[in-house]
Amino acid sequence: MPLEETHKPYRIKVVEPIRALSRAERERRLEEAGYNVFHLHASDIYVDLLTDSGTGAMSQEQWAAMMRGDESYAGSRSYDRFRAAVDDIFGFDYVLPTHQGRAAENVLLSSIVKPGDVIPNNMHFDTTRAHVIANGAEPVNLVADIAYEPTAKHPFKGNMDPERLEALIAEIGTGRIPLVMMTITNNSGGGQPVSLANLREISRIAHSHGLPFFLDACRFAENAYFIREREAGYAAKTPLEIAREMFALADGMTMSAKKDGLANIGGILAMNDPDLFETARERLILMEGFPTYGGLAGRDLEAVAVGLYEAVDIDYLVDRVGQARYLGEGLLAAGVPIVEPVGGHAVYIDAKSLLPTFPQREFPALAVANGLYLEAGVRGVEIGSVMFAREDEAGSEVYPELELVRLAIPRRMYTRTHFDAVIEGGRAVASSRDALPGYRIVEGHGPLRHFVARFERFDRR
Ligand code: F0G
Repeated sequence: MPLEETHKPYRIKVVEPIRALSRAERERRLEEAGYNVFHLHASDIYVDLLTDSGTGAMSQEQWAAMMRGDESYAGSRSYDRFRAAVDDIFGFDYVLPTHQGRAAENVLLSSIVKPGDVIPNNMHFDTTRAHVIANGAEPVNLVADIAYEPTAKHPFKGNMDPERLEALIAEIGTGRIPLVMMTITNNSGGGQPVSLANLREISRIAHSHGLPFFLDACRFAENAYFIREREAGYAAKTPLEIAREMFALADGMTMSAKKDGLANIGGILAMNDPDLFETARERLILMEGFPTYGGLAGRDLEAVAVGLYEAVDIDYLVDRVGQARYLGEGLLAAGVPIVEPVGGHAVYIDAKSLLPTFPQREFPALAVANGLYLEAGVRGVEIGSVMFAREDEAGSEVYPELELVRLAIPRRMYTRTHFDAVIEGGRAVASSRDALPGYRIVEGHGPLRHFVARFERFDRR
């Protein structure tokens, strides 16, 4: 039996009451929310798998550390502790705290990108993509093709295709590429990891052309765990040792500490280039705050300093990845197709496979996400045409490759009882798939419309 079946590396000390609404009540709340689960109230939800971002349970050590928060405006002791942890784990010369990941992206990209530039990434997360666009550049996804095959059981489906990167550089030259990015794990592609071999190869290509290489490191600890599990030569290394090897290949990073910082808020921007740092620091003061707090309270810096180490603890990671696997295998057994292998932080329902004849313009992944809420009070998130469909220059709609519903697992929060309820909800959606309604958008536009959109639903039968 795998370790996660027998061993839970924590027990519950504080509880947060939740309750499940009736089906009729859920129908009403979802209609009021314009059929967009982002507009639901937390009290409308039984199991909230909207995101693993800032939603986890903190440890007693984190809460204790928060009491030591030093709220000095400049040079606080909390910054020193934050800085010591970040230096020890990531090893970059210059570090700036930010209030969350997208702020690190904003500071970095607005410092380094000019209009007309192109940013390669294995796959941009939506905020990264939006910041690239907001700075007048074009985000390009160079993930290997296997990422688009939901059931192909490749161990590292987050890998970038090195030939595509070479081809892009050959085509447009290095002048328009201010940096090469890699997202670990690849959130938009199913929470899939990137191998160290691939990181090494992409780093080599970037550096051979004189281009800086940055990691979007939100889920670096989960990525390190998968390397330990799946890449030859790493089984005996600790996740921390593997993480250090990953970051040694890069020139900088952005990170949301709301993920593998195990904190409720926080972000990190780090780099080795002193000139870039000067520019970024100035922008940070403008947008976030003084460089020793960067938009955070001292207590938040403390929570991150402790959380980063807890995130690379092997028992924690076994439990964490084990929860995702439990949910994923349960859904598969209930007849719900998912992206395989199960990623680190979430299970992604493959709505295209579940609903093969449902046209993308009617939002199949939204239909599944809303179905799950109605059946079981579960909130997941659509990662399909609501999020990614775009008009091309000729005015016709271009649809994304994948139609997914992400069920993201908050860290250290839910038990098997909760996951069993999600699995039963999935079973109910799968067995009523032919009756799922279609949706049309009535409010919201632009690359971040999924957060704010409202929909009408219609009967497809
Ligand atoms: N990069 C990745 C890969 C992310 O997953 C996120 C956030 C960010 C950057 C931005 O960080 O939220 O702290 O500003 N992802 C969350 C999610 C929101 O639900 O996947 P942030």
